[in-house]
Amino acid sequence: MKKILVLHGPNLNLLGQREPGIYGNTTLSDITLRLEAKAVELSFSVQTFQSNSEGDLIDALHKGLNEGIAGCIFNPGAYTHYSIALRDAVAGVSFPVIEVHLSNIYARESFRSHSVIAPVAKGQISGFGAIGYELALVALKEHLNSLSAFGRP
Ligand code: DQA
Repeated sequence: MKKILVLHGPNLNLLGQREPGIYGNTTLSDITLRLEAKAVELSFSVQTFQSNSEGDLIDALHKGLNEGIAGCIFNPGAYTHYSIALRDAVAGVSFPVIEVHLSNIYARESFRSHSVIAPVAKGQISGFGAIGYELALVALKEHLNSLSAFGRP
């Protein structure tokens, strides 16, 4: 069964209580439970990790290499907009990374309209709230299937 790493960046531990008008009422545990159910449907197993620290998120991506992670769903939070270190970590791992944002980062303050992660991500899902993570899981399934169809593991 393919292992998918789900990474959440800074302040996402506060989901449910943090700016609910923007991020909704769903908590991080709700998102994890829903993703775990979706993963069973898609024959994936998911490992979830949240950190408020840039270095921990980089370490989690590196660890994914040794653990045979097949793909990653990543909401880098505010690091999206300026962390070259995280961008380099995403570029440096061999598995595909899908960038997810609960809010539509292009419809908010101008400083959120730029993602340094997007050019090195397989793709980006932004603005669909909590369901964006499930959409990313479906997208990863299709993408990994298409890689296998071309003879790659
Ligand atoms: C976010 C968008 C970022 O701009 C913000 O800093 C976050 C959450 C989102 O999921 O919409 O922390 O990544």
